Amino acid sequence: MAAGIRHGAGELEQGSGGVELEVDVADDQPAESAALAEEVRVGLQKTPKRLSSRFFYDAEGSRLFAEIMHSPDYYLTRSEYEILETHKADMLRQFSPDNRPFELVELGAGDGLKTKILLGFFDGQKADFTYAPIDISADALKGLVIDVQRQWPDLQLNPRHDDYFSALQLLSQETDSRKVVLFLGSNIGNFAPDDAIDFYQQLHNRLQPGDLVLTGFDLQKNPAVIHTAYNDREGLTKAFNLNLLRRINRELDAAFDLDAFDHYETYNPENGEARSYLVSQKAQIVPIKALDMQVPFQQGEIIHTEISRKFSRVQIEQLARQTGFSISGWFTDSKDYFADVVFER
Ligand code: AVJ
Repeated sequence: MAAGIRHGAGELEQGSGGVELEVDVADDQPAESAALAEEVRVGLQKTPKRLSSRFFYDAEGSRLFAEIMHSPDYYLTRSEYEILETHKADMLRQFSPDNRPFELVELGAGDGLKTKILLGFFDGQKADFTYAPIDISADALKGLVIDVQRQWPDLQLNPRHDDYFSALQLLSQETDSRKVVLFLGSNIGNFAPDDAIDFYQQLHNRLQPGDLVLTGFDLQKNPAVIHTAYNDREGLTKAFNLNLLRRINRELDAAFDLDAFDHYETYNPENGEARSYLVSQKAQIVPIKALDMQVPFQQGEIIHTEISRKFSRVQIEQLARQTGFSISGWFTDSKDYFADVVFER
């Protein structure tokens, strides 16, 4: 996907404070739709059927995920929020000894709910830094840019509408100041184990010695707590998962009946994998007009839509070691549910 923002082609939006804000985050609807089409064409012909969770985040999906972050059963956001609040000063000391300048690059920034804790604190401390949020949801990114410009008008902001892998290229640009890559919120959990290793190897290849990566890892804990986070009583995760079918209906002219699919979650404490599935409630054939496909489902047949991997401390240390990083910071919440870990290149 070559989705990037078009500098200079920004639209002007009216901020609530009456300030005119320039928002240069362009939608790249065609590229995203083409990627979705390919994913659906290939993924629904596999056995078992599968679709990637990266396609959850259309406008409605981003809105639903924001709701999940506030739900009582989804502990991850609260845990990481606590970590950032408690350790923001330690983090700034690590990122910027002697107030040296740095570039904060955030992969999968979303609406920036947690990152704003750091931005506000860093700004208040007069830290010398720039902020480059990157996200595959143009809608979420636009909201973030508007908020950040309103709250911290002097902050130098370089947003990018892109996926993680294309975003990696940005990191190859050599700069005088240290890069600090934020990869928060357990987004790393969506990678299969080998893909995670590959990703950190690529980060290692592109970064300079001394650069840092701060990753939010959801830790292994009582399996019941994890299972409930993805099977919440409000049904938000279910709505989030089903929204993928709604998106396919809209963008690919498909006819998924959302009432004929259910949400199912597993957590396997032996490998730390939470998995989300959509389950066909009956035997049915779903037409997808834009792809000229008729997709058959047996009763009970699943589409695998997401892995949300949970880590042990040893696995995190192994990931750092295998990909050439050393660990220079380890921050946890009071319940030890979550860890924000600093890898140093
Ligand atoms: C945004 C990928 C971290 O896996 O926990 C929330 C997405 N899926 N509920 C996660 C999600 C179901 C979330 N991440």
